Amino acid sequence: MMHEGANFWIRRAEPNHARDYIRLIKGILAESPPVDTPYAPGEFNPATGTIRELIEELNAGDNSLFLIAESEGVIGALTCRGGELEASRHCTSLGIYVAQPVRDQGVGSALMRHMVEWATASPLLERIELDVFAGNARAIHLYEKYGFVREGVKRRMYYRGGVPIDMLMMALLLEKKP
Ligand SMILES: CC(C)(COP(=O)(O)OP(=O)(O)OC[C@H]1O[C@@H](n2cnc3c(N)ncnc32)[C@H](O)[C@@H]1OP(=O)(O)O)[C@@H](O)C(=O)NCCC(=O)NCCS
Repeated sequence: MMHEGANFWIRRAEPNHARDYIRLIKGILAESPPVDTPYAPGEFNPATGTIRELIEELNAGDNSLFLIAESEGVIGALTCRGGELEASRHCTSLGIYVAQPVRDQGVGSALMRHMVEWATASPLLERIELDVFAGNARAIHLYEKYGFVREGVKRRMYYRGGVPIDMLMMALLLEKKP
């Protein structure tokens, strides 16, 4: 467990965090106005066992990660899913969510900092990538703060409420000695 100050900690998720994680994501997807994610509220409905297995799988892999921010309960989460092909094992794909009441208080930054430390220490990882709603200024600011750069735009990737959404592709490259 990593201490982050008086109010919260960053740690690897454990299988028994599955229920809290599902509650966190369902709460975020139920927000109004909606957050910038393609999932509609009813579209995230995993069984607790599925998330328990995901936590175990991601934290067992050498190119994957499942972090949570914890205070009274789970207040944020960051996942990295590593590439499964021999050709993509140096890549990992990032997702991050922080509970609405504690946004803009440094939780997302703490999750990103721990992720970058983990990826930098890995002998394997060279590329961390993500897609973000092109209008999600706060998330884009956070990613750029940790060195991610814009790689391109997937135009009209999603529709939400009849409105087309462009997705910005971003990635952080890490140089590793051979
Ligand atoms: C995006 C998210 C993960 C960031 O986590 P957070 O805990 O709020 O982030 P932090 O408090 O560490 O940092 C937020 C930063 O954005 C800045 N910010 C806030 N609103 C902003 C805006 N509208 N435009 C630009 N920057 C903004 C803050 O000033 C802060 O920057 P600083 O650290 O340089 O001072 C969180 O807000 C969230 O879960 N949002 C909803 C879901 C989402 O968008 N997830 C990402 C999907 S790709």
